[in-house]
Amino acid sequence: MRALVLAGGRGTRLRPITHTSAKQLVPVANKPVLFYGLESLRAAGITEVGIVVSDPREMLQPDHRSGELVTVLVNSQAEIRAAVGDGSAFGLRVTYIEQEAPLGLAHAVKIARPYLEDEPFVMYLGDNLIRDGITPFVREFEREKPNAQILLAHVATPGDFGVAELEGDRVVRLEEKPKHPKSDLALVGVYLFDRTVFEAVAAIRPSRRGELEITDAIQHLITGGKRVRSHVIEGWWKDTGRVEDLLEANRIILADLATRIEGSVDGETVMEGSVSIGPGTTITRSRLRGPLIIGAGARITDSYVGPFSAIADGVTLTHCEIEHSIVLARSRIENVPHRIESSLIGRDVVVASRDERPRAHRLMLGDSSRVELS
Ligand code: TTP
Repeated sequence: MRALVLAGGRGTRLRPITHTSAKQLVPVANKPVLFYGLESLRAAGITEVGIVVSDPREMLQPDHRSGELVTVLVNSQAEIRAAVGDGSAFGLRVTYIEQEAPLGLAHAVKIARPYLEDEPFVMYLGDNLIRDGITPFVREFEREKPNAQILLAHVATPGDFGVAELEGDRVVRLEEKPKHPKSDLALVGVYLFDRTVFEAVAAIRPSRRGELEITDAIQHLITGGKRVRSHVIEGWWKDTGRVEDLLEANRIILADLATRIEGSVDGETVMEGSVSIGPGTTITRSRLRGPLIIGAGARITDSYVGPFSAIADGVTLTHCEIEHSIVLARSRIENVPHRIESSLIGRDVVVASRDERPRAHRLMLGDSSRVELS
């Protein structure tokens, strides 16, 4: 069996992070979301993986120094290729499949046909995190040999998802974001298919939003009398397409963290709970309340880092308080008078306050940034 991992897409809900970076590489507990998916494929015994990536695109962005708008080439594809490489670090053989534009999940299946060679395959959305992996789900598909198998989860707001109507474990209908959901069972971003899906993706037409929808392809299979089974997931999962979901994923993964101190912590620092500190990191006169993770080469001075924080490599925190947040590589947070919470801070960001009059906020924010002040 092969795998098709979707790591293209627009990522509009995670702007501005996705203006310059692939959302699948945003770290959860300091590890890119995508890596959790790749590891769970390997754990299910799958080694041949095709990763769908998008073309580089040009974007306007303020220049670091002058603040003027300049054209930059955003190449999340290169970033994914650099991070995953040939897959050998994961025990996988990875092939990259270029999608010219994010034309839908079923479009990705369509263009991947030559790679998949009509073998059964698992399709995994690269921004989904399934804590307990997918092994039982894959085994069930191999045993039952349906034409397709979908993974479902009970959700509180089914109207926000693709929703399945079942008879036993057979899927009889799928509806995308229904006004009057027939069940509370939402589609999770993992699907298993045999070759019949290629006829379905060839037969369907783009939806109103201009995408070839995988729900339409699966509905096409059901209407054509094909066997579509479902598996209801018991464990925790998340589509990390929005900041709130990323922070929740970070919280869930950090809850299982083990203490590991590789950096240096001075005698005036107080630590509670599970704390992981990477090599070359120095902690001085601070309070760390886990669970939290701090990467390598970071400097934490006279600060408080609270539960469910993931601080990446090379970050500097000085005279500040932060909790329930994700801070990406090399950012610097200094002398901030209020606690920072429930925040996602990108790479090379500076958040600092100055003791100057007049007291004013001075901001240089990329497109689609969000700042909430209190
Ligand atoms: P989505 O999160 O549904 O779409 P998106 O990435 O465009 O995000 P947004 O709605 O915020 O604009 O995509 C799910 C996953 O599938 C994600 O990892 C991106 C990937 N994807 C592709 O690879 N190709 C596609 O054509 C689409 C639509 C998504």
